[in-house]
Amino acid sequence: MTFDFDRIIDRRNTHSSKWDGMAAALGVTAHDALPLWVAEMDFSAPPAVQQALQAEIDRGTYGYYTGDHTWREAMSAWLARRHQWQPDPDWITPTPGIVAALGLALQAFSEENDHVVVFSPAYHAFGKIIAANNRRIHNQPMINEQGRYRMDFDGLAKSMPADAKVVFFCSPHNPGGRVWDAEEIRQLCEFCIERDLLLISDEIHADLVYSGCRHRVTADVVPEIARRLITLSGATKTFNLAGTHVGGAIISDPEIRKRFRAMAARSGLLSFSTLGMIATETAQRHGDAWLDALLPYLEANRDYLAAEIVKAVPGARPMHLEATYLAWIDFSAIGMPRKDFMAAIRDRARLGVSPGPQFGPGGEDWIRVNFATPRSNLELAITRLSETFC
Ligand SMILES: Cc1ncc(COP(=O)(O)O)c(C=O)c1O
Repeated sequence: MTFDFDRIIDRRNTHSSKWDGMAAALGVTAHDALPLWVAEMDFSAPPAVQQALQAEIDRGTYGYYTGDHTWREAMSAWLARRHQWQPDPDWITPTPGIVAALGLALQAFSEENDHVVVFSPAYHAFGKIIAANNRRIHNQPMINEQGRYRMDFDGLAKSMPADAKVVFFCSPHNPGGRVWDAEEIRQLCEFCIERDLLLISDEIHADLVYSGCRHRVTADVVPEIARRLITLSGATKTFNLAGTHVGGAIISDPEIRKRFRAMAARSGLLSFSTLGMIATETAQRHGDAWLDALLPYLEANRDYLAAEIVKAVPGARPMHLEATYLAWIDFSAIGMPRKDFMAAIRDRARLGVSPGPQFGPGGEDWIRVNFATPRSNLELAITRLSETFC
């Protein structure tokens, strides 16, 4: 079966955060502006998902959902098939997305003002949910070693505040696209065990890994971490279902699972969106062929962007991505202050990209560019950047 990732879908005026929220969030107001920011794709979801949702729409009844065991089994089977790790379906709790699960974990396992460790630059919602829960972020800058990030455990051992309780680990990492190897994961887990930290392993980008790399599931690499581990996983990034707001918190330790579920119950979050549950279950049951077709398309976009941006913006340095569709590009050597290059991207190139400072220390002069869009959009973006910076 072939899938058409080149098809342009007009998403304007559809309540799309990526398209319709660009002006408010980034100040990109031109009528022909192109959004390359929020982490979602411009491709339609797998046909099986479309059919399953269409069946719901044809029925026209949108009542409450029950029977999430089939959803949990589908996620467990997906992880076994794609990542050689099979959690017991009973370990999995649906949540209204990954960020919601991060918030619940903070509320269940830390106190106000406690520190939460984040390896920066890091996905900006980490900082937001930490601040919204009146916890404090401890940014541990990663080391950029010849264009590849690694976590700095020596630095963390020296700088970590005594009241740190939780680590948010992004695996694969956003931004920068690192696929952590088993040794790095082992080091992190040993650190958490030694320092009595709860480890939240956000593995939402796990399926979006490029050739030559393999995602390693934290729980699989270091089984001894189970007593202090929450794994966050789901189908929403992989299959472009972010707006359906469903994630999975996978917890093998019964005590941690009980506390996590109690916190979810306290907030009335143990009732799930019917459309979201059906969409994500269907994707994980029937989406393999679609994903297998998507990955080479994304990989070709990654390579195209990396090759062309250095010509379009002299001095730009893209990091080599092992995973994710979020290019991370260093603009510090283009010979222009940040304020000016961001204004040029916004007003002259008419592109909505994520500003690096959003991602914390280490992101200052970088931009993040989402390339999960038809190739023709990416070509247009390169043309506009070239007209702006050459
Ligand atoms: C690392 C990471 N975690 C979580 C999310 C968001 O997940 P959700 O929409 O399920 O809250 C994103 C989205 O970009 C992400 O990059």
